[in-house]
Amino acid sequence: IPDLQNKVIALCKRRGFAFLDSEIYGGLANTYDFGPVGVELRRKIRDRWWRDFIRTRTNCFGIETPIMMHPQVWKTAGHVDNFADELSECKVCHQRFRADKLDERSCVNRKKCEFTDPKKFNMLFETSMGPVADSASKVYMRPETAQGIFVNYPTLSQVSRSKLPFGVGQIGRAFRNEISPGQFLFRLREFEQMELEFFCSPAEVDKWFTYWRSYCMDWLRTLGIKQQNLKFVDHGPGEAAHYAASASDIEYRYPGGWGELWGIANRTDYDLKNHANLSGKRFVSENEQTPFCVEPSVGLERLMFAMLCDAYDEEKVFPISKNAAAEPTTGSEASSAEAGDVRTVLRLHPAIAPFTAAVFPLLKRPQLVEVAEKVYLHIQSLFGVDYDEGGSIGKRYRRHDEIGTPYCITVDFDTLHDRAVTIRDRDTLDQIRVPIDRIASFLVERLSE
Ligand code: GAP
Repeated sequence: IPDLQNKVIALCKRRGFAFLDSEIYGGLANTYDFGPVGVELRRKIRDRWWRDFIRTRTNCFGIETPIMMHPQVWKTAGHVDNFADELSECKVCHQRFRADKLDERSCVNRKKCEFTDPKKFNMLFETSMGPVADSASKVYMRPETAQGIFVNYPTLSQVSRSKLPFGVGQIGRAFRNEISPGQFLFRLREFEQMELEFFCSPAEVDKWFTYWRSYCMDWLRTLGIKQQNLKFVDHGPGEAAHYAASASDIEYRYPGGWGELWGIANRTDYDLKNHANLSGKRFVSENEQTPFCVEPSVGLERLMFAMLCDAYDEEKVFPISKNAAAEPTTGSEASSAEAGDVRTVLRLHPAIAPFTAAVFPLLKRPQLVEVAEKVYLHIQSLFGVDYDEGGSIGKRYRRHDEIGTPYCITVDFDTLHDRAVTIRDRDTLDQIRVPIDRIASFLVERLSE
């Protein structure tokens, strides 16, 4: 789809997924707020991750730790010395960029930039704790959630009574003073990570690395992300981050090109050993070895952006409804928009769509509204459901197509006699009649497909 990134950004703003933060003051660069449907999408993605990485696994459990931790954590973990990108400045226009993509940069006068030699730039965000801002009060905002897990290893292995292998997961905010954030939600300075630290014996680390690498890829495919937009990129020793012996990225084909979506790293015993040495505490397993750690780590916003790009579609509106039987009651797609119009649709997997269903009265007549409200109340405690009675039915369909609602449920005049509703499928546009007391089970069946 040409110009996909701008189309996704425009849709996100128009429908309330994500928009520039503090916009009334001109916005803070690359900082976004998430609106009503964006919040629902994020919640669904987090819940799904938690379900599949923590809740349904007998050997994985969760933890929540603060954004600001003891500064020694980041010294020990190597971030104070090594968590740096290379930065170059153009001698002409003085713009600064990460040193890895300088070829693509040009000055305001469209001539190629002339760059200084790259310098290391540490990405840790600093702040100070307490009333006096001096070097003794300096703390860091965590650049990854993982260290909250590592420093708690002695307590966690004890309270969970777990034997190796076991995993500890955390979802939470992370901060990086990125030199050049950008590409909408791809590179932010404040973002959210979903991380699992899976501890195992050194002898089993390769097995678990292979396991989590394919588990993450399968997880993305199960959520409908297109196979042709996903690939593995492996990093051997020397190419991975300072803490990892080897790593594999799952890359997604973003509109701006392939980019890292999910990092799976073999962190060895690097973190636990360093914390053990510096703290003098014991970080060993039941067989007195320091465990190794395999880490799948993904950013919520990057994942959300990949899902939005992947789901975005435009298609010509059908001139006639595919299900003629439903036409007399709800009207065909053609009557709600001119045949030949382009419909924008987000084909999000039903499990992560902000709303599973939307309930409409065909017209704003009291007898229809009364039944539609009852239908809505009946199912809204079970699923994310929207109620919409404003505007033409066609406009309501278009709105819900754009926010990815898989099923639109319409209460029409026939409902008053047959106690059934019309359910319209977002993707096929098929419309079927379903008795009111079967709506909930219809949706449960579709969600479990
Ligand atoms: N604990 C390991 C770790 O943090 P990473 O590869 O630096 O590894 C993991 O980050 C994931 O976090 C990335 O794959 C990406 O999805 C996300 N991420 C990293 N930096 C980000 C940023 N500036 N904006 C949005 N997401 C980011």
